[in-house]
Amino acid sequence: MQVDHVPPGDPLEIADALASRLTDPVGVFAAPGRVNLIGEHTDYNGGLCLPIALPHATYAAAARRADDRLTVTSVQREDRFESRLDDIAPGAVTGWASYVAGVAWALREAGHDLPGMDLVIDGRVPVGGGLSSSAALVCSAALAMIAAAGEDVPPDDLVSPTMRAESEIAGAPTGGMDQTVSLLGTTEHALLIDFRDHTTRQVGWDPEAAGLTLLVIDTRAAHALVDGGYAARRADCEAAAAQLGLETLRAATPADVDRLDDDRLRRRATHVVTEIARVEQVVEALAVGDWAGVGTVFAASHASMRDDFEISCPELDVVVETAVAQGALGARMTGGGFGGSAIALVRSDGADRIVDSVGAAFGERGWPAPGVLPAPASPGAHRVR
Ligand code: GLA
Repeated sequence: MQVDHVPPGDPLEIADALASRLTDPVGVFAAPGRVNLIGEHTDYNGGLCLPIALPHATYAAAARRADDRLTVTSVQREDRFESRLDDIAPGAVTGWASYVAGVAWALREAGHDLPGMDLVIDGRVPVGGGLSSSAALVCSAALAMIAAAGEDVPPDDLVSPTMRAESEIAGAPTGGMDQTVSLLGTTEHALLIDFRDHTTRQVGWDPEAAGLTLLVIDTRAAHALVDGGYAARRADCEAAAAQLGLETLRAATPADVDRLDDDRLRRRATHVVTEIARVEQVVEALAVGDWAGVGTVFAASHASMRDDFEISCPELDVVVETAVAQGALGARMTGGGFGGSAIALVRSDGADRIVDSVGAAFGERGWPAPGVLPAPASPGAHRVR
């Protein structure tokens, strides 16, 4: 097979299997991965982005313990994490469990009184696909821990602790888009996030109703946020803003960007400023059902990331070029870059042909088969059982 189809699994079946691993579970909670429609590397620049929540989620079940310990196990792993809650601190935990332990630490820092607990995890978001499996993990863990504490907390209040868990305990710098949409996404809507003031607005996103499908294609090319590329881009953006005397690039105009002497910084800033404008263009196009216009903006976004921000890679470019050559309205890489996934907006009746063509293009180059995910905009973090 030249393409792997990656189904999200049945939520109730997954939840029941997970609950059966615990005695007296307080509940089973799901938090989705995401794909960003447009607005890449804009969040940490105080800009706009427009992600959707995926049907693929991470599931977390919790049961209270009588002592002060946190244990974490995962369906996908052999090893088991165990620690006293008080011993969890920056630098004290490494590896995958640091994401979950980090949530316990950040929630306690935010004043939540957590009991000792056993957590079991089932992750159904492809890892390394640039689809925010880590945000799905921390957000599902946060809901499970809050339930174990017997509290009722609005999802908005979990954005900051889940971000802190990733950046301060797991050591993965993120700009906040992933956790925000994993917590606040809704069916048939994209989430417009404005990072100038951290406000959000639901924007209708229902390509199926227009005879279209959003394909998410995981290139399976290496992608790791903890690697240097993401931090380097972030540092470039901060340097560009500092040279312009601005707090963030959100405040920069195209004329400001032209004033930057350094060619690399000017190209980085050009991407950010034009990408923020492209988010607004997509929102305007969606408001009038101009799907061709959405596709055109996707194409411009990909070119900007490939040429100015330099975060694409051959696999991502091949997905985008092949999809467009086979009739996609538009396609672009999505997420942090350097691998991971691309999205393509395609006519539903031509989707199979495009998927096959991408698979064939990978096969010809001797690359492993890409994964293809269905991506209807799906609910944010919630209780399943
Ligand atoms: C990663 C980060 C996000 C965002 C994107 C790029 O997914 O976690 O905060 O910066 O990259 O848009």
